Amino acid sequence: MKRTRLSRLGKPLQELVAAADAATKTSYSPYSRFAVGAALMTPDGEIVTGSNVENAAYGSTICAERAALVRANAMGYRVFKALAVAARAAGARRVAGGDVAAPCGACRQMLYEAASNAGRNIEVILLGADGKTVVLTSVAELLPLAFGGSKKRGGSNVDG
Ligand code: THU
Repeated sequence: MKRTRLSRLGKPLQELVAAADAATKTSYSPYSRFAVGAALMTPDGEIVTGSNVENAAYGSTICAERAALVRANAMGYRVFKALAVAARAAGARRVAGGDVAAPCGACRQMLYEAASNAGRNIEVILLGADGKTVVLTSVAELLPLAFGGSKKRGGSNVDG
């Protein structure tokens, strides 16, 4: 885990962070007023975004990270090299309880499986509340000793 300035990242990663930040605008979060945006980058540099979608039955909420992941999956993308996450509370650039929004446990587990299936770790960039600093980490670092399970044949339309 490392903290650095957004401006020190390469242009593609800066664009990924900008896409995550822009995705906060599509968040449906009337209950928490906490808008989260996530952006996944494929090895070819394609970007797929997602944002959190809440529900009156609070537990039905889907986080931005998983929204991006399921959207990418439906688009046929299974391999990712990076994920950026940004958050805005009630329209402001403020993050309650800390300066970055880090993926929740459920998102870490889903990201772990995507990384594990693809055979490559996913770089994770968390945008700071100031919009200028970032925390650099990775899925492997965010979820050590992860549960992997065992897959059955024929469980995926893509892999047969
Ligand atoms: N949330 C995310 O979308 N991603 C995170 O990394 C943390 C939490 C959402 C879920 C809920 O809609 C709101 O933020 C408050 O928890």
